[in-house]
Amino acid sequence: MNFREKIAETVKERNSRIVLALDLPPEKPYNALLSKALQILDETQEYICAVKINRQLILPLGLFGETQKIISAAKDYKLPLIMDCKINDVGHTNQIIAKYYFEAGFDAVTANPFVGWEEGLKPVFEIAHKNGKGVILLVYMSHKGASEGYGQTVMDVRTGDMTFQYRAFARKAVEWNADGAIVGATYPQKIAEVKQIIENKVPIYSPGVGLQGGKIEEAIKAGADYLIVGRSITLAKNAAETAKKIRDAINCA
Ligand code: XMP
Repeated sequence: MNFREKIAETVKERNSRIVLALDLPPEKPYNALLSKALQILDETQEYICAVKINRQLILPLGLFGETQKIISAAKDYKLPLIMDCKINDVGHTNQIIAKYYFEAGFDAVTANPFVGWEEGLKPVFEIAHKNGKGVILLVYMSHKGASEGYGQTVMDVRTGDMTFQYRAFARKAVEWNADGAIVGATYPQKIAEVKQIIENKVPIYSPGVGLQGGKIEEAIKAGADYLIVGRSITLAKNAAETAKKIRDAINCA
């Protein structure tokens, strides 16, 4: 089963479209992070469809060190794992980075389309798709400064037409056969625009509900397929109850 099939399966099994962003505030000793992460995963696993980890956890725990215990736990729960590494370098380096994450047990990586295809992300897509793994592209980020990059007006080098950067990235997501397009839940209008471009060919992953201000219902109605949720769950007094509520709100939207 490839990444897209795996996540579609867990959505069906758990009736949830929450990708849990397993983000925790810094703690010392570092192994306190491990036990906290494992506890949250255990409490919420029945309400989520995938787990997303980023460098704020990998840096203190180590990719082939304590992180492996989180990866094993996610695999025991049959949850796909996304590494939110926003790959953004030259091709050969990008490919080695992706290879390490896949070897460590991740099912998909995130990448930044700003670096382009040839000698950019092509080597990442090649190694990913050869191994049944996924590549999820940033299309419009959720924070305020996103407009400075993803919202710029740019010229399409092939046609000479002026367009917005995120619209060009949405077209690349289809052209490159990406496994997901990330659009901030804080910009539901942008989700709707991207959805029109990519139709149902590429699923939309939307971070930014809760603490960043995005609204579940607006993001889902605009066309988000999955919501990436971090601190609303990981910092909640009762992570399981919060995850269940968010899952239900998504399903009712
Ligand atoms: P919160 O705590 O705000 O966490 O629910 C959101 C998670 O998603 C990541 N994030 C993004 N990832 N594009 C991304 O690829 C974005 O625009 C974006 N905004 C937030 C963030 O790192 C955290 O894990």
